[in-house]
Amino acid sequence: MATTSLAGKPEAERCCTVDRVSMVYKIGAFGGTDLPAVRDVSFEVRAGEVVSLIGESGSGKTTLGKMILRLCPITGETITVDGVDISTFKRRRLKTYYRSVQGVFQDPFSSYNPIFKADRVFSMIKDEYFAEVNAAEWRRKVAASLEAVRLSPDEVLNKYPHQLSGGQLQRILIARALLLDIRLLVADEIISMLDASTRIDVLNLLADLKAQGLGILFITHDLSLGNYVSDKTVILRRGRIVEMGAPDRVFGNPLHPYTKSLLTSVPQLHRKWERVEAELAAGRAGLTGRCIYHERYPNGDGPVGLDAERPTLAEAEDDHFVACFQADGEETC
Ligand SMILES: Nc1ncnc2c1ncn2[C@@H]1O[C@H](COP(=O)(O)OP(=O)(O)O)[C@@H](O)[C@H]1O
Ligand SMILES: [Mg+2]
Repeated sequence: MATTSLAGKPEAERCCTVDRVSMVYKIGAFGGTDLPAVRDVSFEVRAGEVVSLIGESGSGKTTLGKMILRLCPITGETITVDGVDISTFKRRRLKTYYRSVQGVFQDPFSSYNPIFKADRVFSMIKDEYFAEVNAAEWRRKVAASLEAVRLSPDEVLNKYPHQLSGGQLQRILIARALLLDIRLLVADEIISMLDASTRIDVLNLLADLKAQGLGILFITHDLSLGNYVSDKTVILRRGRIVEMGAPDRVFGNPLHPYTKSLLTSVPQLHRKWERVEAELAAGRAGLTGRCIYHERYPNGDGPVGLDAERPTLAEAEDDHFVACFQADGEETC
């Protein structure tokens, strides 16, 4: 198996390259305890590509998104966007950076101040980035970006957040990002709080944006949503990538026991839950060997001194990488 490498790919195709980054939170009294949230993670998002970052709660997805958005420090190696290292950006460079990279987060309600009309999020962008644009031109620009997210300006402008649905609020936030002519969107659980029919609308919108050349990091804990939109799937567990590749490979031929257990736990209408539970228990039993991802090492560290037991991410087949000792069938866990 060949180890993964970012080398050899044409720079022009890359939009965002995350290269061996880590993030440790200092927690506990006086920050005395280290909590590694992201560990040595590398992947890339290309222009016109949706990359789904999937993992259970606490696996480090939001932290990674925040690192790309520079809301968290970048440690380890670095993150480059359009070939430029973003890790040292400060005020003015950051402001310019946010013209091309924006984030939208899970709870649309928390992004609005309930005492102001929802379209205040647009005027904040105007003050910050488009002070010279006159009022008529600005109205045209806002209308165009609302139409891009399939909202009619009459429907949503001049309304308070409580007068709009979660789906409308989420789409207004995407419209706000589009005002800035972005190249990369970090979408962190943006449809988790929406009802089923609105979800499809927002997913279709992401597909449109991708067709227009936007790179999208689509963060979700929901496997089926990841499958629906993505060109590449990255499965994160305890801060590390355990499996990644083309969605049809990762979902059609899951190799890591964790990915298999995630897939088993997706509810399906034709399967009774007791059977699923039994399959999950059998899957967990398969996770009790010597590898750091096993249940007996809940922090994903493995015992001190046994670093060698951490499987590295390696290419198992074309466009499919896995961090598992048993993936090539030569060794069993
Ligand atoms: N600001 C923070 N301070 C300390 N620990 C944090 C902070 N944010 C997240 N964590 C911890 O980092 C780990 C990863 O969190 P997060 O990136 O939010 O995961 P996810 O988005 O996959 O649920 C979790 O164990 C979480 O408790
Ligand atoms: Mg999160």
